[in-house]
Amino acid sequence: MSDGLSGVAVVGSANLDLVVEVPRPPRIGETLLGRAGGRFAGGKGLNQAVAAARSGAATRFVGVVGVDDGAALLERTLADAGVATALRRTATAPTGVAHVLALEGGDNSIVVAAGANGELTERDAVHGVAGAAVVLAQLEVPYASVSAAVRAGREAGAVTVVNAAPASPAVLGLLDAVDVLVVNETECAELGGVERLHSVGARSVVRTRGAGGVELHRAGAAPVSVAAFRIEPVDTTGAGDAFCGALAAALSEGAELEGALVRACAAGAIVAQHRGATTEALSPSSLAELVATR
Ligand code: RIB
Repeated sequence: MSDGLSGVAVVGSANLDLVVEVPRPPRIGETLLGRAGGRFAGGKGLNQAVAAARSGAATRFVGVVGVDDGAALLERTLADAGVATALRRTATAPTGVAHVLALEGGDNSIVVAAGANGELTERDAVHGVAGAAVVLAQLEVPYASVSAAVRAGREAGAVTVVNAAPASPAVLGLLDAVDVLVVNETECAELGGVERLHSVGARSVVRTRGAGGVELHRAGAAPVSVAAFRIEPVDTTGAGDAFCGALAAALSEGAELEGALVRACAAGAIVAQHRGATTEALSPSSLAELVATR
């Protein structure tokens, strides 16, 4: 990380999460009765920015929302968490919406209508990451903008973290500029597995396995495992995002990757014990308290 850089810049999506609680996913052609589970701020980018800020890092979020009520809820959530925003409003698309099916046991299935997120430009992205010590992005916004942000961050000397969610093979062409790639088991398999990722240039691959913890795969080194914290999940929506946000926050403070992963696991565990993809329960002190139980 170069001198003069500080904080975390998150480039990504902001969605209005409409949650329906269901016992199982619907079958094709079926109408399934569920229970209204709430209306929350979401989007992988927003969730990660909120988690980074609530983990204690000065955080900026770069995204696009519509000119509608949904956007107001998202802006409030970012402001309450202390996230500085480079948030552009567009009149040509609605705020992104995610339909979240919250299944029994805390799992979920999500369908996203990108809306305004699809209008995030390379200019927005590059401008938004200037001066950040850590640049964090996911793949719910146009790939060209993610790529531009990550390459600009890397050139400026920032640590770059990409969460390849949802998985897209396009990310394989960006790995030379990525310091830490975060994938869950499904995304990792979709991208060809850890060996393949290393063979196309990935330096550090973090594979998250939910209750199974995480594995750090560094090119040319033995894998390192970090155990998950034992919790009773209430809603796992956003737990992976909290992991990424807290990871970026720890790295921006100069933490070693292994130590940062422990804090990241703790953040995921805290968010999974609350409804919605972000929670006020995440803070530097709640993280420290949970980490101290190790
Ligand atoms: O990772 C969870 C998020 O994915 C939700 O908040 C939803 O908006 C989708 O982007």
